[in-house]
Formats: sequence, structure tokens, C-alpha cells
Amino acid sequence: MKFYEVATYKEMSRKAANIISAEIISNPKAVIGLATGSTPIGTYNQLIEWCKKGDLDFAQVTTVNLDEYYGLSGENEQSYRYFMNDHLFDHVNIDKNNTHVPNGLAKDPEAEGERYDAFIKEIGGIDLQLLGIGIDGHIGFNEPDDVFVKETHLVDLDESTIQANSRFFESADEVPKKALTMGMMSIMQAKKILMVVSGENKEQILKEALTGPITPKNPASILQVHPDVTVIFTKQAN
Ligand code: GLP
Repeated sequence: MKFYEVATYKEMSRKAANIISAEIISNPKAVIGLATGSTPIGTYNQLIEWCKKGDLDFAQVTTVNLDEYYGLSGENEQSYRYFMNDHLFDHVNIDKNNTHVPNGLAKDPEAEGERYDAFIKEIGGIDLQLLGIGIDGHIGFNEPDDVFVKETHLVDLDESTIQANSRFFESADEVPKKALTMGMMSIMQAKKILMVVSGENKEQILKEALTGPITPKNPASILQVHPDVTVIFTKQAN
């Protein structure tokens, strides 16, 4: 595992964007796994800047996102599909047909999970997966649990996650209580993993994840057994 601590959120974002760019430049048809949350926004802004300058080309890139709130359509401003369009896809030369987010309106979430995993397999898996980390150690929306769940599945969000994410909503009551998330299989089968973490409030959970026991009680701890993980951390909150 490579671990970098940098001084500023801007440096973290720039370094992460450099790693994603290197992947796309060396493999223009790369499959990039993407994450939401406030942490990767700076990374996306940097990628947009380089794309606008002509240094980065998304024309043949495929993306698969980690998760989506269950019950929200992609047109809902709080949905992760909307977030991705707004923070990245609308500003780079990616073909929207090549951008994939679990369907938050799927009537049968189990079938949607199976479809999503089969699709990721069909396109050859993920070359580089970008991750953030939740305050409780969640990756995607894999919340602390008694087991690691392999497949894309429906989860009940933890109260701490609902509270943390309520800053994007009018109130905590409006935060969906469930989400569809990629499971550990697709994440751990990604060839490379890049995790961005910002803020002192994440330092302890990150330390436990990277150096403590590997346990589903801290979902990010599973990354310790992945062969190619890069973590970029800054104490500076964004
Ligand atoms: C969200 C997302 C995660 C993200 C995490 C941290 O709920 N599902 O993929 O990594 O919580 O978000 P933030 O970067 O806003 O702290």
C-alpha cells in the first residue's frame, strides 16, 4: 500500500487527479470506478481543467459508480447520478452512455445488483477504483456489518451516515434511508484502488482501517489485502 499525507486539500486533489489521468493516458479505454461525497470534488475539478486544456481525453473512457440512493431518480438533485453529471460528466468529453450508476428506482433491487455486477464483469472489471471513506469506515455504502457483502446490494444506511449526509439535504429526514452499493467483490477486484481522505475527523477511522484488524466492522479495512492501493490523506478539510 502506498500512503501519502499531503498538506492541503488542493494537493490531495491534484495528486489523485494525476493518478487518474495517468491511468487514462496509458489506457484510453480504461474503466474507472468513481465515488461521490465532498472529498473527490477537487479531484473532479482538476480533471475537468486538464480535459478543457486538451491534456486529457475521456472519449473512450467507461465509468462505473459505487452507489446510488434508493428511491431517487437520476433527475433528483440529491441523487448520485445528478452529482456525477454536475461535478464531472457535463464538463468533460465523456459519452454519457458510457457512464454507469446503479438505478435507484429499480423495482427489484436484488436483480439490479445482479445486473450491475454482471455488467462490470462483462466490461472486464474496473481498472482503477476511486474511493472516499465514511466517518464510520464505509466504502461506497458498505456500512459496518457482521459480514463483508460481496455483491451489489441494498443497504440500510447507518444513523451516522444519514446525519453526515444530511448536510446535502434540507434536513436529516429527507436523506434516503437506503442505498444500492457495489459490494466488496467488484471493489476488491479492481486492478488498482485510489482512496482520497480529507479532514482530521477521518484520521482515526482511516488509521484503524489501514493498520488495525481486517473486520467488516470497519469496511475499509479490507483494503489491506488488496495488492495495489494508494491512499492520499490530508488533515485539511475541504
Ligand atoms: C458517502 C458516499 C461514500 C463517500 C462517503 C464520504 O456517503 N457513499 O462513497 O466516500 O460518504 O463522503 P464525504 O467525502 O462527503 O465525507
